[in-house]
Amino acid sequence: MGKVSLDEIKSMIDRREFKVGVVGLGYVGLPLAVEFAKAGFHVTGFDVDREKVDSINNGRSYIPDVSQDTLAELVKDGLLSATTDFSQIKEMDGIIICVPTPLSKTKDPDMRYIQSATQSIAENLREGHVISLESTTYPGTTNEFVRPILESSGLKVGKDIFLAFSPERIDPGNKRYQVKNTPKVVGGIEPNSTEIVAYLYSKVIDKVVPVSSARTAEMTKLLENTFRSVNIALVNEFAIMCEILGIDVWEVIEAASTKPFGFMPFYPGPGIGGHCIPIDPHYLSWKLKTLNYNARFIELASEINTNMPRYVVQRVADALNEFEKSVKGSKILVLGVAYKKDIDDTRESPALDVIKLLENKGADVKYNDPYVPELVLNGKTRKSVELTEKLLHNVDCVVITTDHSNYDYNWIVENSKLVVDTKNATKNISDALKSKVVKL
Ligand SMILES: NC(=O)c1ccc[n+]([C@@H]2O[C@H](COP(=O)([O-])OP(=O)(O)OC[C@H]3O[C@@H](n4cnc5c(N)ncnc54)[C@H](O)[C@@H]3O)[C@@H](O)[C@H]2O)c1
Repeated sequence: MGKVSLDEIKSMIDRREFKVGVVGLGYVGLPLAVEFAKAGFHVTGFDVDREKVDSINNGRSYIPDVSQDTLAELVKDGLLSATTDFSQIKEMDGIIICVPTPLSKTKDPDMRYIQSATQSIAENLREGHVISLESTTYPGTTNEFVRPILESSGLKVGKDIFLAFSPERIDPGNKRYQVKNTPKVVGGIEPNSTEIVAYLYSKVIDKVVPVSSARTAEMTKLLENTFRSVNIALVNEFAIMCEILGIDVWEVIEAASTKPFGFMPFYPGPGIGGHCIPIDPHYLSWKLKTLNYNARFIELASEINTNMPRYVVQRVADALNEFEKSVKGSKILVLGVAYKKDIDDTRESPALDVIKLLENKGADVKYNDPYVPELVLNGKTRKSVELTEKLLHNVDCVVITTDHSNYDYNWIVENSKLVVDTKNATKNISDALKSKVVKL
């Protein structure tokens, strides 16, 4: 054991004298900050975005999964506040990094956010600091990228400070699994780091799963997300094969799902979206490329999933063709632009590609999404149009790209001429209406 005693830190955690700083207050950071504050910790959120910081300090939540009332109460009780002043990191005891990890245009990791967040921490580092990186990234980041920046301060990991990787597993919109009841994997740079970071999380999360290293924890997250990407690609290809063979892919999946072992259903759709599944596997394939290995499953899955919007547009063109219409000049209504149902996040949403591709072919495209009132696409701001009977009567084709629960699908199909349904959202409409629907 080095200069800093783990027992002392644990005792501070137990007494809630351990101040927690969360760097990056987005979909991941804010729910986590709230969870720590709910458990009685004094939490300070750090963000470069002044609007988010002001919003929190005024007790206003901007993340649908974070309840307005809970946030307001925690702020009022002095347990949660936010700032853009990174010098306050000095006053924290634990710091959790939740900044974005996007890709560059060439699909290489864009490490700027981790770099600048870590730099801000390094400038304010002191003995005893406990640091956890949650942003999804390539194996080796915590040890090879974050650690040297922190240690440039002269403080050493495992002796003066502690550093671990603990992947965030949040599933926006999931009512059953949230921060508290989703098990959390923790892998430290060395055993003391694993122990103390796991101890900290165990105060707010029901089950913590320590692993042998930060690299193992980084790779665990990438297996989870690559698993989804590959299986979604597989089922997307099944959808294409079923169409060629004249079989209903949805019926096939439902039947296969009756197998009580060895099968887990995935569903096709217009592609994949969000900040995770389309992006994270590329962090892994990039890392492997630097080691002369080609991650074939990742590349193939990405190719199939990325091509799905094009496939959807082809299906729309075929469906319009049956009515002796071309895509060019047709009025098309896209329903749902969020990347998945019942959320407001449009990052990497395949619906945006569907809109762009339809417009490239000369269609007149409008969209409706109850969660996304406004959208900037191709440099143009668009507004969600009101969903009315008149609108549905007027358009040549409705394309369902997101299966939001609050749509009345029976009513939508009843009032439309033609519906292309990429999500099987219309499965429960009355039989008489089914002939108007083309399913993926
Ligand atoms: N959204 C999800 O569902 C999800 C799930 C699991 C993992 N993740 C991972 O978590 C990480 C964060 O994702 P997110 O969805 O919360 O992103 P987000 O864009 O919603 O939030 C990130 C926040 O970080 C802030 N930020 C950027 N640079 C900063 C800096 N230098 N210092 C302080 N704040 C800074 C941004 O202003 C923003 O508020 C990513 O690595 C992502 O892959 C996301």
